[in-house]
Amino acid sequence: MLELVVLISGTGSNLRALLEATRDAEYPARVVAIGADRDAEGLQLGEEYSIPTFTVPFTRYATRAEWGAALAEQIRPWTPDLLVLSGLMRLLPPAVVAEFGPAVINTHPAYLPEFPGAHGVRDALAAGVTETGASVIAVDDGVDSGPILAQERIPVLPGDTESTLHDRIKPVERRLLIQTVLDIANGHIDLKGTTPA
Ligand code: GRF
Repeated sequence: MLELVVLISGTGSNLRALLEATRDAEYPARVVAIGADRDAEGLQLGEEYSIPTFTVPFTRYATRAEWGAALAEQIRPWTPDLLVLSGLMRLLPPAVVAEFGPAVINTHPAYLPEFPGAHGVRDALAAGVTETGASVIAVDDGVDSGPILAQERIPVLPGDTESTLHDRIKPVERRLLIQTVLDIANGHIDLKGTTPA
């Protein structure tokens, strides 16, 4: 049984999908703790699913490295088999990636390496592309630059806004996240073999 610590910043809709998947006794993973870099709405899922939560407010620390050190202190006691970034809107400091890597994955609402960064959906719209996508990657020290573990193309439709497009991307992200965790648990994906560059 793969033990996951999941980090979020927002509503946690992708996390909820993963939690629902773990309700299936056949699904070889379970979330042992949920962390956030702010008072994120998704933290309430901890209460709903009886999972411990922790918050390490990014704004409370002078540097990203100090925030990372405090974050690692909260993650470490759970000895996760896999650290899942699910809508965490922060770049993990290299020391945190080094400590928990290569077993650190992230979901992204674009077809990487297209449109990396915090505004993948907005950037795709601004670029006027007719298709974008969703990706799950292994995390390295760069911005969404780690090895791609799973991805899928998604059409951009005439009249799309950032929210209509994002709402079309998220269900694919969830499915890719759930499948990627399953593939890691079953050994179909060997993160050691995909050690980020
Ligand atoms: C996801 O699309 C994720 O890729 C992006 O932010 C969104 C988080 O959504 N970074 P939620 O908090 O899981 O609803």
